[in-house]
Amino acid sequence: MCRGARATFMKTSIAIYPGSFDPVTNGHLDLIGRGEKMFDRVIVAVLKNMEKEPLFSVTERVEMLREVTKQFPSVEVDVFQGLLVDYARKRDAAVILRGIRAVSDYEYELQMALMNRKLEPRLETVFMLPGETYSYLSAKLVREIAQLGGPLTGLVPPLVEQGSGPNWPQPPPKAVLSFQAVLD
Ligand code: PNS
Repeated sequence: MCRGARATFMKTSIAIYPGSFDPVTNGHLDLIGRGEKMFDRVIVAVLKNMEKEPLFSVTERVEMLREVTKQFPSVEVDVFQGLLVDYARKRDAAVILRGIRAVSDYEYELQMALMNRKLEPRLETVFMLPGETYSYLSAKLVREIAQLGGPLTGLVPPLVEQGSGPNWPQPPPKAVLSFQAVLD
């Protein structure tokens, strides 16, 4: 690649915020808001992973993300498959944006960032800290709480809390609850 083309690539202020977003949480949304202030454009890229059994379909996740990010005109929601670096090249992005909540995230994120750098040295990973209110929040815990009928208020946007997906767990019917109370 010629020098000029390389410089253009490096200067692009397009950041990709990749993830599973199953479902989008208030922590994700907080990070999108921070990224949106820093970059000209943020592409929230939902991984279409054939191996994982998701709670929400990719279409549902994209719809929810589009709805909750519509307040940010420079944020786009897209789907990607395959290597993230290939997708970043396709979208002319120079940055991968990732959130680090705690030290426990660091090892995995470091490994991924360094591997992505090995695959595409021109791509930089930028880590941002979500608001400390969300430091304990993860989509995995949200799925677990929902499956056990716990409250999701404050953890996910209201739209997600209402849950439109066929797999989104419904609270157990009252009859089952009272039967359980007898057993206990
Ligand atoms: O929110 P997640 O599930 O932690 O996001 C992980 C994600 C989507 C960023 C990661 O799995 C990914 O980039 N997958 C795409 C395949 C790829 O490029 N793998 C090599 C990463 S070093």
